[in-house]
Amino acid sequence: MTLFRTAIEQMAGYVPGEQPQAGKFIKLNTNENPYPPSPAVNLAIQRALEAGLMRYPDPTASSFRLRAADVLGVPPDWILCGNGSDDILTIVTRAFVGEGELLRLPYPSYVLYRELARIQGARFEEHRFEADWSLADSFAAPADGLRLVFLPNPNSPSGTMLPTARVAELAERLSCPLLVDEAYADFSDTHCLELVRHNPRVMVSRSLSKSYALAGLRFGFLVAQPELIQQLLKVKDSYNCDSLSIAGATAAIDDQAWLAENRRRIIASRQRLSEGLAGLGFQVVPSQANFVWCRHPDRAPRTLYEQLKAERVLVRYMDYPNWGDGLRISVGTDDQIDACLTLLRSLV
Ligand SMILES: Cc1ncc(COP(=O)(O)O)c(C=O)c1O
Repeated sequence: MTLFRTAIEQMAGYVPGEQPQAGKFIKLNTNENPYPPSPAVNLAIQRALEAGLMRYPDPTASSFRLRAADVLGVPPDWILCGNGSDDILTIVTRAFVGEGELLRLPYPSYVLYRELARIQGARFEEHRFEADWSLADSFAAPADGLRLVFLPNPNSPSGTMLPTARVAELAERLSCPLLVDEAYADFSDTHCLELVRHNPRVMVSRSLSKSYALAGLRFGFLVAQPELIQQLLKVKDSYNCDSLSIAGATAAIDDQAWLAENRRRIIASRQRLSEGLAGLGFQVVPSQANFVWCRHPDRAPRTLYEQLKAERVLVRYMDYPNWGDGLRISVGTDDQIDACLTLLRSLV
């Protein structure tokens, strides 16, 4: 007899990218930012530490919401904070999708979504991207039990995006909520925040892990109309963000000059990586994120991944059943990118 719910026993569980704890790797596998965060972040955490950790944190991270509201141009009660944007995705799935109900997502995309459905004992339905990384109208078609749709924009692993007007169109057609996962939107030309104003079923999630260089801090947030936020607050853990992460995240979003400069550097290095890969004969998908998806016509991606790893360069090998495999390479510093390209030159 099993002690667990069948749904839990039967699922494999999400496996994040490798996080080697020892040894020296050039780490281009989990879309982290290669640069340290704004110096204001460390100062704010230090100050919070000196104030002491004996009290519980502010349950709704008000200081962050006030600063983020200014930056994003929405009222603070349109923002829900989370322990990374993964926490936001969990809260939203738990709030909208019950056992046996349906979650829709594009394919290939962020592998966590389907695991969230599985934890709920819910069904999920994957809609394949077209060859040009667009989505057909069927992505917004009605379906029995459909309760929630996830759309990563930019998408992972492709780094591609749907235009805002197309996302608006899909959201209009859908009768259930649409979560636009904008974990990478700070690196892209456009975003979908304005849709939240016009459509009460649209939610946008953001992460401080990538563009603010705070993957280790764990902070993300959701923007949605306050009626939705009020319901979602009932689902989150009481203290899902701790005092240090609230202090650090508030300082980070307050330093928009740092963000602009970091974004400029990452986008320039993304261009360097994309052109370097194309020069070596890789098929490279034009990216709007801080990573690049590529394949080489004559070399197996898994072999290249292993050969790079043997030389202490870690990239992400992804294999999507019934779709194909490839390499997702995060945008590092120019030196890291050049080291990766030099190795690849000897391998292809
Ligand atoms: C599409 C997408 N959404 C969300 C996340 C989660 O980011 P975090 O929980 O670090 O904010 C990731 C992380 O890789 C991602 O690729």
